Amino acid sequence: MANNSNLGAAKAAKNDEFYTQYADIQKEVNAYLEYNPDTFRDKTVLLPCDDPEWSNFTRFFAQNFEKLGLKRLISTSYAVESKKYKDYEPTLFETESPWFDADKTRIKGKIFELTRDINQNGRIDIDDLEWHYLEGDGDFRSLEVCKLRDESDIIVTNPPFSLFREFLAWIMEGGKAFLIIGNMNAITYKEVFPLIKENRIWSGVGFNLSMVYKAAYSNYLEANQKFVRSKGYNPDDNYIKVPGVCWYTNLDHGRRHEPLRLMTMKDNLRFSKHREIREMGYIRYANYDAIDVPFIDSIPSDYDGIMGVPKTFPGSYCPEQFEIVGCAEGDSGKELGLKPFPRELKALNKSLRDGQLYYMLDGKPEKPYARILIRKKQQQ
Ligand SMILES: C[S@@+](CC[C@H](N)C(=O)[O-])C[C@H]1O[C@@H](n2cnc3c(N)ncnc32)[C@H](O)[C@@H]1O
Repeated sequence: MANNSNLGAAKAAKNDEFYTQYADIQKEVNAYLEYNPDTFRDKTVLLPCDDPEWSNFTRFFAQNFEKLGLKRLISTSYAVESKKYKDYEPTLFETESPWFDADKTRIKGKIFELTRDINQNGRIDIDDLEWHYLEGDGDFRSLEVCKLRDESDIIVTNPPFSLFREFLAWIMEGGKAFLIIGNMNAITYKEVFPLIKENRIWSGVGFNLSMVYKAAYSNYLEANQKFVRSKGYNPDDNYIKVPGVCWYTNLDHGRRHEPLRLMTMKDNLRFSKHREIREMGYIRYANYDAIDVPFIDSIPSDYDGIMGVPKTFPGSYCPEQFEIVGCAEGDSGKELGLKPFPRELKALNKSLRDGQLYYMLDGKPEKPYARILIRKKQQQ
């Protein structure tokens, strides 16, 4: 019988093979174009970790090549034998192509390129894509894909979930513009949060989404079936709901320059829709000089001190309105100067940890959910 860690590994392997829907890509990309219609103009866009025959990233960027004003589109795929999940048959697109090679199909990555109107029908689109096998397996860390990264201006993809940290580091190392999909939990990763704090990367427009992916397996849970059907997909086609999905980017967009519309502290205490705020006010932490704000819409507009806010804050973050002070988790919490909790309190709350915030409520230490610490931007 398979043990739990085998099952976990099998699930992780399959979860690396989630395919993004065309409409989700279109919706996100359109938000950048609304802000700056020339975001992609004259740019080379690289779509790594893709499977161009299946992937909607390739379809979307190839179909919109002229509208976006692209100079060059490159997409690369990862060889089946290198994938953790190997259940795969080559498509007719590949087997019927003059470049098909039975010896290479399972062990080599592929590269698809679009630069010009090959079929001379008057427009550059998906039918003008040319492809060949890569020298290696298409691993984004390989020298040949690193070289493609270095030749490109913007990197767009949904990288394998299990390699998100490494993938983001790979982009940053190349100093490239990017638009990628990841899990919301990535916000507090120690490799990711400092980049958000320093405004080197930020959340895309689509944030904390429940996305429907095409997956390598079916999910027959009632809740999945219901959700997927409500979005117009047939779950029998292996569509699957994945909550907490975010776009991450360093491309500018309009939402991040829209300040949150907030009430003053006085008004919140009287009129907040949250009973907790009206009845208990803003509780001060016992181990750090800041107040706890359990809801984003309850951030007081006129408070000058530090505030602990939910970790979903980056989805509403406007850098002209607030600065991010830090993340109150583990080592970063300790570096921020959160005082260790007095050991005798452990008897009252076993979950207390150094580096995390706590406050006293009716004589008992309580921990808020994961918090990001922010402060109102001072007017220059
Ligand atoms: C989450 S899927 C996304 C596919 C596609 N970008 C999309 O969203 O439709 C990630 C893809 O990356 C591939 N992959 C896994 N490890 C990789 C690596 N080290 N280098 C390149 N691709 C990899 C997986 O096999 C999978 O096809």
